[in-house]
Amino acid sequence: MEGVHTYYGESHVLQGISLRVDPGEVLAILGRNGMGKTTLIRTIVGFTPPREGRVRYKDTEITRLPPFRMVELGMALVPQGRRVFASLSVRENLEVARRGAGRWSLEQVYALFPRLRERAGNRANKLSGGEQQMLAIGRALMARPKLMLLDEPSLGLSPILVKEIFGIIRRLNQEQKVTMLLVEQNANMALKAADYGYIMEGGKVVLDGPAESLMNNEDVKEFYLGGGSGERRSFKNLKSFKRRKRWL
Ligand SMILES: Nc1ncnc2c1ncn2[C@@H]1O[C@H](COP(=O)(O)OP(=O)(O)OP(=O)(O)O)[C@@H](O)[C@H]1O
Ligand SMILES: [Mg+2]
Repeated sequence: MEGVHTYYGESHVLQGISLRVDPGEVLAILGRNGMGKTTLIRTIVGFTPPREGRVRYKDTEITRLPPFRMVELGMALVPQGRRVFASLSVRENLEVARRGAGRWSLEQVYALFPRLRERAGNRANKLSGGEQQMLAIGRALMARPKLMLLDEPSLGLSPILVKEIFGIIRRLNQEQKVTMLLVEQNANMALKAADYGYIMEGGKVVLDGPAESLMNNEDVKEFYLGGGSGERRSFKNLKSFKRRKRWL
């Protein structure tokens, strides 16, 4: 995407964002609450088209295409908060998402998530949060995407489940060659899984680089990874805290 500005009414949320995802990579976009991460994904898939700027997928300009076209082009969304179809069974949730020629079979999804096979006949709203996240990923896979957009897949999950979900993301990337655009607040896990990262603040990209260099960046450590070599700062020192953010 290039120079993207997205608004909700008068509210100017994305303020000139440019970024790229290379085929085969895992890209992490990090940022705290309300920084515009979901808006970025909504802008890519066409739910909230930008007022300015352009979005391209391979050679196709997709800036103002409707969301359903994205699936045909090879993208799939795993939305924040899972958004599984609550009154449908697990199997039905997967079946409704089957599209296109190269689609996945139920068996392939069950092989990846054995727990979904066990729960195949259960209504989706009876699943645990982790199982719902698996279902949301499985549903996205049904159309055999080339690019998966995942909006905070770790949200609300226990550390063990977070690990499992990130393991699956990595496996899909390596074994199935699915390119991953991952939006996360969990900077630690996301950077471990990613090849490259962007950090968003106030609707802008403030820093980007290879995941490893971001992990070793002092500011990133201090503000996102809860560590860093400087003395620990409390919220009382918010002013100095802000001053330290060299990228702002
Ligand atoms: N439908 C909407 N209408 C108006 N404002 C919105 C709407 N959705 C989001 N916003 C505002 O846009 C800003 C960015 O929201 P967004 O959901 O993109 O942030 P986020 O980084 O995904 O946050 P979180 O980590 O909490 O999911 C916030 O100030 C939010 O209040
Ligand atoms: Mg969000």
